[in-house]
Amino acid sequence: MVQYSQSVLVGDNLKNEKAIILNKTKEYVKETLINDSSGHDWWHIQRVRNTALYIGETEDVDLFIVEMAALLHDIADEKLNLNEEMGRQKVMNWLKSLDLSTHSCESIMEIIATLSFKGGNRPPMKTLEGQVVQDADRLDAIGAIGIARTFAYAGFHGDLIYDPEISVRETMSKEEYRNEKSTAINHIYEKLLKLKDALNTNTARKLAEERHQFMVTFLDQFYREWNGQQ
Ligand code: ADP
Ligand code: NI
Repeated sequence: MVQYSQSVLVGDNLKNEKAIILNKTKEYVKETLINDSSGHDWWHIQRVRNTALYIGETEDVDLFIVEMAALLHDIADEKLNLNEEMGRQKVMNWLKSLDLSTHSCESIMEIIATLSFKGGNRPPMKTLEGQVVQDADRLDAIGAIGIARTFAYAGFHGDLIYDPEISVRETMSKEEYRNEKSTAINHIYEKLLKLKDALNTNTARKLAEERHQFMVTFLDQFYREWNGQQ
């Protein structure tokens, strides 16, 4: 019979428990966001989770906290809830239904509450785990996917592709960012092109280079076609 030491058994049990919690959370998030078309669909969550784990491998972080926060990061979004507080409560209730330490719950909640871009008016992430998840979310907002999500969101919101008479806003409050009329092309300037300089980790900065360049090329081609140049 193989003899296991007590600490190996405790370690294995903990691993199993975490895998069960992650799996339950994955199913809960999938079920909640499967029909969303405002840019927070399940596949966005799946990409953010994968990218966060990829970046997390290069940083000294608790990958369980990174994965949980990545899975839950959009459940509390104010666009999907009556208000921010109700969104937070929803995540809190979910975490309470799991067998998690108070410290883990607090770490995950802190990340989710600080994450969103909201016109750029946000305090910096406090923990490295939070910085990793924020980078992964931001990487999914740039490049080809970022452009696709921007046009999907603009359609959902009733905004135009482009209107040369609506100018790009240099600065804006959270309310202006959410409520004023804009266009998909303007959003690329108001948010997407700024993201590469707002990243926290070197791994994310590296991943952002090609995605950023792709957006610059896209805009160049867009205007050439808009202006009728062949
Ligand atoms: P934010 O905190 O900026 O709302 P989200 O992750 O909630 O970020 O946004 C979901 C997706 O929709 C992102 O890809 C984002 O760039 C895009 N988006 C957000 N606001 C707009 C907008 N006004 N016009 C076009 N796309 C938008
Ligand atoms: Ni997101």
